[in-house]
Amino acid sequence: MRPEAGFAARIVSWQQRHGRHDLPWQTNRDPYRIWLSEVMLQQTQVRTVIPYYLRFLEQFPDVAALAAAPLERVMELWSGLGYYSRARNLHRCAQTIVTTHGGRFPASSSALAELPGVGRSTAAAIAAFAFGERAAILDGNVKRVLCRHFGVDGWPGERQVEQRLWDIAQRELPQTGIEPYTQGLMDLGAQTCTRTRPQCDPCPVAASCMARAQGRQASLPASRPARATPVRETCWAVIIQNQRVLLERRPPAGIWGGLLSLPEISVTEIEHAAAQVETRFGVTVTSCHRLSPVLHAFTHFRLIAHPVLIEVTQAARLAADTPHQWFELPKAGQLALAQPVRTLLLNLLERSAAQAPLL
Ligand code: ADE
Repeated sequence: MRPEAGFAARIVSWQQRHGRHDLPWQTNRDPYRIWLSEVMLQQTQVRTVIPYYLRFLEQFPDVAALAAAPLERVMELWSGLGYYSRARNLHRCAQTIVTTHGGRFPASSSALAELPGVGRSTAAAIAAFAFGERAAILDGNVKRVLCRHFGVDGWPGERQVEQRLWDIAQRELPQTGIEPYTQGLMDLGAQTCTRTRPQCDPCPVAASCMARAQGRQASLPASRPARATPVRETCWAVIIQNQRVLLERRPPAGIWGGLLSLPEISVTEIEHAAAQVETRFGVTVTSCHRLSPVLHAFTHFRLIAHPVLIEVTQAARLAADTPHQWFELPKAGQLALAQPVRTLLLNLLERSAAQAPLL
């Protein structure tokens, strides 16, 4: 391939020689068939789509047949393909075509993009394949090809980055050969410029690829920036009476479901922890001291627990139906405790064994 030929020209001639030409939706220019395939191919691989596509065409040979079918039948046939809003939109779109477009697909990408479930990129693909319109596509695979080749930094989900990619996609369109160019971009993204193992040797645009020149294939496109994880704060009441500790069995669902943990007090009430504990548990507090905070990372948030060590006398009997129960502190190691609670209690035990004050 002549590297001095333009980006699009190299993709067009590569597609003609090495691209895919025998996919079931490449047999004619029927916009119905092309629309059906493009909707199915959104976020779904070709080999998964093919059997679904063939079954749909057999059941619904044209848009009128699809529009007339009950939604349940469409959902049944879609079952297993995922992203089910696509199936509902597909059915709605077929009905719109019949009722407002006289059963014929509109012949421009801008009109196609108004239809349910047809975004800008899908509209462009249909317009290019069915009507030969010079329209730019930009699906996930194409974003990756363009980010790498043109060295576009930033996460493509961000509006400015996406706009820049649309500008490049539009700018690079060839004057002729829109069909092999569009198919070539798709083929390149799906088979050559793959996410984890790009094969640069057979790539027709490798000679001008910025990611390849800079060895940045693995870091382009940039991933979504990590969201700051939310922080939840709580206060743990470590209530001790004569070598016993008061624990709470957590509800079966949610974090630490079914495990034993410490009773919690709202952090805003931490100054009144002693009074809270006296009223809630019918005990008499003899000392109350704050311990060092405990940090624990969950998948979706971080927990900062502020433990307060509260020594008590005269524990009242607990009602039979409370999730609270007294346990022997020296046996803490054998209980089904939430992990950071276990660590905290074992530290307390170690310190009391060393005759160090608990604080
Ligand atoms: N992905 C999206 N559209 C496609 C098409 N027409 N052929 C192959 N893969 C695709």
